[in-house]
Amino acid sequence: MGKARKKLTSKYYGPAQIIYGRLFYLVKRVHNKWHTYKSLRRSIQLDEKSTIGIHHSTMFNLSNSKIIVRNGSLKVGIDFGYFDGGVYDSRKDNCRIYMVNSTLEIEGNVSLFPGVVISAINAKVTIKDGTTINGGSHIIALKDIEIGQNCLFAQGVMVRDNDGHKLSTEAGEEVNMGIEGIRIGNHCWLGQKSMVLKGTELKDNVIVAAGAIVTKSVEANSLVAGIPAKVIKENVKWSA
Ligand SMILES: CC(C)(COP(=O)(O)OP(=O)(O)OC[C@H]1O[C@@H](n2cnc3c(N)ncnc32)[C@H](O)[C@@H]1OP(=O)(O)O)[C@@H](O)C(=O)NCCC(=O)NCCS
Repeated sequence: MGKARKKLTSKYYGPAQIIYGRLFYLVKRVHNKWHTYKSLRRSIQLDEKSTIGIHHSTMFNLSNSKIIVRNGSLKVGIDFGYFDGGVYDSRKDNCRIYMVNSTLEIEGNVSLFPGVVISAINAKVTIKDGTTINGGSHIIALKDIEIGQNCLFAQGVMVRDNDGHKLSTEAGEEVNMGIEGIRIGNHCWLGQKSMVLKGTELKDNVIVAAGAIVTKSVEANSLVAGIPAKVIKENVKWSA
């Protein structure tokens, strides 16, 4: 038994195999990083005052697309929340930015926490100064999603400007509009696992309660909750 194990070990896991395996892995990693770096260099536009920090686990797929940062910095997968440290961890919850014929425009300082996904096809996504998007949130754009200044997205928020599939009656009439842009004003707080669906506008200072699904536009300074989201409080303020 001992002899057999020894034989197996030396055959498959000898020092030469281990060194070869590590080397192969290293070369593959460097090759992949170089590939990503080359495509990022082509796709990222920074003005003189701007910077970008990207956690190395971030996955990019940028086809004919641009990430533009103006007057600030974009952090991708680097920061994480004080109250939920460890729930989303950049080592296992990587950010993913997949864009085709699209633009991600960052104006000022914006942070995307670990596990944030931005997916855009033929679309424009704008995120403004002071906005933080917590782990596991998804922004899925087929047209136009604008997020104002100083907004806070809790974990697992979903903002999508499209249904993904068309609905029609048996007679073949179209039922849903399919794709309509979304605008989120300044200083909005979107609670954990809330969703904002197509064609909606959240005016300034809107609060969306945890788990709410926003299907209609919301007036400024309102708190909405439930499915579909309804105003439950008016003239409310939130602070960071
Ligand atoms: C938005 C929020 C802070 C509002 O809290 P609040 O002002 O104390 O609300 P209240 O507890 O007074 O609730 C008011 C009413 O709304 C209901 N309500 C509260 N939160 C709700 C929710 N998420 N979904 C549905 N209804 C909700 C309450 O049951 C209550 O109903 P009633 O008047 O029939 O009794 C809270 O609802 C919430 O979502 N907290 C979690 C926020 C979050 O995701 N934080 C992550 C850190 S970034």
